[in-house]
Amino acid sequence: MRYLITSALPYANGPKHIGHLAGAYLPADIYTRYLKAQGHDVAFVCGSDEHGAAITIQAMKEKTTPKAIVDKYHELLKTCFEQFHIDFDIYHRTSDPLHHTTAQEFFTNLDDKGIFQIDESEQYYDEEAKVFLADRYIKGTCPNCAYESAFGDQCERCGKSLSPNELINPVSTLSGNKPTLKPTKHWSLPLNKYEGFLQEWILKDKKDKWRNTVYGQCKSWIDGGLQPRAVTRDLDWGVKVPLKEAEGKVLYVWFDAPIGYISATKAWAEKNNKNWKDYWCDKETKLVHFIGKDNIVFHCIIFPVMLHAHGEFILPDNVPANEFLNLEGEKMSTSRGWSIEMHEFLETFPDKTDELRYYLTAIAPETKDADFTWKGFQTANKSELVDILGNFVNRIVMLTHKFYDGLVPLPGEAGEAEKNIALEIISQTKKVHDLIAQCKFREAQFEMMNLARAGNKYLADAEPWKLIKTDELHTKTIMYTGLQVAVHLSKLMQYFMPIKAEQLSSMLNFNRFLNLTPGHQINQAEYLFKPIEDELIEAQIQKLKKRVEEKIELAATAATPAFKPLKPEITIDDFNKIDLRAGTIIEAKKVEKADKLLQLTIDMGFEVRTVLSGIAMHYKPEDIVGQQVTVVANLAPRKMRGIDSYGMILMAEDADGKLVFVNPREAISNGSDVK
Ligand code: MF3
Ligand code: ZN
Repeated sequence: MRYLITSALPYANGPKHIGHLAGAYLPADIYTRYLKAQGHDVAFVCGSDEHGAAITIQAMKEKTTPKAIVDKYHELLKTCFEQFHIDFDIYHRTSDPLHHTTAQEFFTNLDDKGIFQIDESEQYYDEEAKVFLADRYIKGTCPNCAYESAFGDQCERCGKSLSPNELINPVSTLSGNKPTLKPTKHWSLPLNKYEGFLQEWILKDKKDKWRNTVYGQCKSWIDGGLQPRAVTRDLDWGVKVPLKEAEGKVLYVWFDAPIGYISATKAWAEKNNKNWKDYWCDKETKLVHFIGKDNIVFHCIIFPVMLHAHGEFILPDNVPANEFLNLEGEKMSTSRGWSIEMHEFLETFPDKTDELRYYLTAIAPETKDADFTWKGFQTANKSELVDILGNFVNRIVMLTHKFYDGLVPLPGEAGEAEKNIALEIISQTKKVHDLIAQCKFREAQFEMMNLARAGNKYLADAEPWKLIKTDELHTKTIMYTGLQVAVHLSKLMQYFMPIKAEQLSSMLNFNRFLNLTPGHQINQAEYLFKPIEDELIEAQIQKLKKRVEEKIELAATAATPAFKPLKPEITIDDFNKIDLRAGTIIEAKKVEKADKLLQLTIDMGFEVRTVLSGIAMHYKPEDIVGQQVTVVANLAPRKMRGIDSYGMILMAEDADGKLVFVNPREAISNGSDVK
């Protein structure tokens, strides 16, 4: 069989966390390793998703260019995947010219067929920045949960997907101004016209083939009725729309990104002397997309409609989307700081990548959301990897050296227990393989561990360390049998824990395609796994908590305007030296050649006096006549612009320079004391 396996192209706008790893990359890698070991012809492709408004916004935040952002994160992501041994055949990128032409050709193909619907619509426009605003560039209040910083496409607090015109009080994130509506033209994919196709292809055919969670989401999308989706955007970062009349427009990132699977395959095929069309256009090839559940609609509905409309491509055979991985009981979120980034894990635990692969597979969110806990990681490592798998392997290898100088013994006749173990090897291998083929990786790995459990129990029951004194021949049979279990374990481990599998097979000094025959020399025992100390685990939990707190503090300081520091302390006697009185403005006029000053005549009750006040930029003279104010009445007279000022008017001023009068709340007779 020929297979094309894809993992969701991660946005190159930041690091990715271990939830992403568990969702779209690790399972695809396990599946690909399995298929390749079975001798299938497989291409496993991925790459960075480098377009979209999220990236231009990130660039704005970091005061740099989108190109600099994607270059930085493309490298980071690529290395992280390598270090977790996610063995893509190619890790491409959508900024590559090959991708741009591939995506443009795809668009042109559909456009030539007249598939797009062209719509004039009103869209938010930033008059100051002179650009149409992508959904992500508009913020406002969420109509669902009243969160004040919801994006035009989604509220990050309640998760509701939005369109910009649903936002209350929309503002442009570019200028901070209220955006205006302006007509623009967009090309849309009329998904509604493909409902029949989707009903046939998914609803009729995939019910028992796809995961329930995936099928269920598709069904509710299709049953709910589909709307045309714009595939162009007014933005200058992305794949240019290949049409003269579409100046200044790029393809919507969700239109070009999945085509990235095709361009990645092309780039790989070019280098490896393959024909990319074998993988995309041959009905015999199986296309499988590994993604997280937030990507289902794009991979099960929109992209298949694009492929179907184009006509030359195969459709996905399966889309084994995963649910989400939480962290210590809460949703993982890089922006909140509640996450374990891949690179961060690699820095702290550079030699524990297989252990993480193991734990992520053991708790894989295949049917429902799962929860990563540091304690869970520590426990799985200790009670499963160290105590069962590692212990079994270590015992059998050590004893082989102790009893036979590391030479595989010639076995005698197999008893009941040996026959059972031989059957167990066959049945567990088959179970593991069948389960991987069905994308049930969690159960598959559990069955692999069951073989280790069986091996452990067999040794514990047979007690060769005692038997060696009384029955040499049967001891050889036991040791031989145990070594066969170890060999088969290493073969099964290669899908889940490639480095440990390698380490085990080199301990056994064999090449994975052979079995151990009597007389074969094995190498010294090494510990495959080690316990992780409590302090290290505790430190990770503390680090998470601290980071979230720091982010909250940071957000709080960013949100508060800068206040002036307080003046030095004064006593009540100091304060009592100030004589404050109520007065009323009975006349106001501008002061010549002084933009800021108004000359006020104030009725103080006991007298009428002149006061100069720097409020001309905020108030017109005619608007403040009759206004009651608070006057510092015993201030030494000052001369400004040739006019004597007797006192001062109290004003409140905020960080933005807004000025308002501090006046008695209700009218009170002029000359009254203010204290
Ligand atoms: N970048 C998207 C995400 O991280 C996934 C894109 S998948 C592709 O959610 F199919 F569009 F490539
Ligand atoms: Zn909301």
